[in-house]
Amino acid sequence: MNQNEAASQIAHLREELEKQNHNYYVLNNPTIDDFTFDQMLSELIGLETEFPEFFDANSPTQRVGSDHNQDFKQVAHKYQMLSLSNTYTEEEVQEFDQRAHKLTDENFEYVCELKFDGVSISLTYEKGLLVKAVTRGDGEKGDDVTANVKTIKSIPLRLKGDYPDEFEIRGEILLPFSIFEMLNRDREEIGEQPFANPRNAASGTLKMQNSSVVASRKLDAYLYYVLGDNLPDDGHIELLHHASQWGFKISEHTRKCKNLQEIFDFLHEWNIKRKELPVATDGVVIKINSSRIQQELGFTAKSPRWAIAYKFKAERVSTTLNSVSYQVGRTGAVTPVANLTPVLLAGTVVKRATLHNEDVIKSLDLHMGDTVFVEKGGEIIPKIVSVDLTGRHPMSEPIQFIERCPECNSLLIRQDGESAWYCPNETGCPPQIKGKLEHFISRKAMNIDGLGSETIELLFQKKLINDIADLYDLKQSDLVGLDRLGEKSATRILDSLETSKQVPFERVLFALGIRYVGETVAKKLARDLKSIERIETASIEELTGVEEIGSKIAESLVNWFADDRNKRLVDRLKSQNLRFEMKSEQKEGQTDKLKGLSIIISGTFEKISRDDLKAFIELNGGKNVTSISAKTNYLVAGENIGPSKLEKAQKLKIPIISEDDLLQLTN
Ligand code: IVH
Repeated sequence: MNQNEAASQIAHLREELEKQNHNYYVLNNPTIDDFTFDQMLSELIGLETEFPEFFDANSPTQRVGSDHNQDFKQVAHKYQMLSLSNTYTEEEVQEFDQRAHKLTDENFEYVCELKFDGVSISLTYEKGLLVKAVTRGDGEKGDDVTANVKTIKSIPLRLKGDYPDEFEIRGEILLPFSIFEMLNRDREEIGEQPFANPRNAASGTLKMQNSSVVASRKLDAYLYYVLGDNLPDDGHIELLHHASQWGFKISEHTRKCKNLQEIFDFLHEWNIKRKELPVATDGVVIKINSSRIQQELGFTAKSPRWAIAYKFKAERVSTTLNSVSYQVGRTGAVTPVANLTPVLLAGTVVKRATLHNEDVIKSLDLHMGDTVFVEKGGEIIPKIVSVDLTGRHPMSEPIQFIERCPECNSLLIRQDGESAWYCPNETGCPPQIKGKLEHFISRKAMNIDGLGSETIELLFQKKLINDIADLYDLKQSDLVGLDRLGEKSATRILDSLETSKQVPFERVLFALGIRYVGETVAKKLARDLKSIERIETASIEELTGVEEIGSKIAESLVNWFADDRNKRLVDRLKSQNLRFEMKSEQKEGQTDKLKGLSIIISGTFEKISRDDLKAFIELNGGKNVTSISAKTNYLVAGENIGPSKLEKAQKLKIPIISEDDLLQLTN
């Protein structure tokens, strides 16, 4: 493919992929299957790598994020990001309407829209391209989170239709309930405290340093406020309709309301219907539609006079606390759970509520037999919000957190700075043993087919397994004859265990279930340190030297390997032939003469193909990069090099060399 053909194919693929992103993530109406989409995306990635002169920061390929750590720059907002004043009753909404009418003689209409409960974001577009995404911060200035926001598929990187040359659009970044639940399950698996609600999870995700992890979290975004000098309409709702044409995701539930009655109808309707939405909402925002009248009314120091938030009341009931039970997780963390007299709340019967940890019990000052208020708000899981002290028996005892493990009677420990109590008996406490086994066999870890939590329970009960290495000692005769297990299932389990010996080191490391060592951390450790021996003997300093590894993770690793039982476990697994090092093949001609150098190649070459040149750079330890930055060490220029690339290299004073010069560098 020549350069011209590549240019037009790249443009075609970019347009088609953005259209499909829009169909899928904004319109909820995909028109091609995932496989075709992935094929087009990999074709584009291939072409962009081969023809780096066509790099574009807003290409759909940029949505996968990058592995590099980023620092967030503080950026001043062009228009201050104010908040809204809150109301909780219809009377207050009525007062807002009266105040507004006092401030202007003109007639006006309102728009009611859902108040999304996420993280607010300001997006700036210039000439149809997303150039900046900034968090609210203190309202005056926020964090530049552009790289992370680019990974959100429902946010257009390039607009369609007739958009203003320059404008800002604000909205809310959200983590859908379904993703939130999956994320929390994963966090609990590695002993991380789960996020309290989708808003915290979205906010934590948006501030992550590694944008490729952000990309995997599947954030969503609704936009609700267009700002700029040359906007195509006066009306707020009309502007939102325009924005929807430009490619933004706008809530379809936004509605014009002529009077208070229509506003109240909207409030009543959505107080119920919001429970069916895939994302969290905590109220309704009522805005005057006309921008001209909005300007006439202006702002107070904190909020606009032309808009108000009506907050939904979280549904709340009172019931009795009958007892507190304690659950022990895979990592030994002990979670207190309140057992309540069953009560109907927001359509479901609530019998239990999580109490999270000891501090929550203390701050509620819970006593046995208390009458408690239970709420179901953005948190989804019901929680106890307060105690009705009027109903407390004078002799009732405060709840004392248990001192010993309810499963194995070990003395619990609580480390400085941690909120959870842990059972330290990792290898003898049944829920910890079973939890570790279940984690080890799970899909993202060793992926053992045919084994599930019921079979694990059974094998544990029959004393056939007590740790993960025991799995590899299982024989056909151990399995056949167990409840519901025939020849066929037994063979499948044994085959699958055999196959798992080929699972790469990074997944074995994750499967060991070391606290805080999740999938990403395991990958980084395996790729950087290459073998279990190096991880085992690494100091805290060496471990924290690895990207993304902080002192909490490093300490957890050092403690894990300091325990002889864990060392023996690893030795057994090694003798069972599991992979404990990265597979690395020393290739012929391999050197590290270009180590640490970032090299970009551009144009076509006479003696060598571009692919071979790239392979040559890698073989000698160099890194092929696709865009020029101040960090690029060399530009290897061939025939027909793109003029903009050349210009940029000259501007940044990056040495421009020929292919022969490159060969010289390795001699
Ligand atoms: S309008 C000047 N509309 O609520 C007013 N805000 O307390 C600009 N929010 O920071 C905000 N849904 O994060 C507006 N439909 C909506 C909203 C909304 C959620 C959030 C936003 C803002 C906060 C105001």
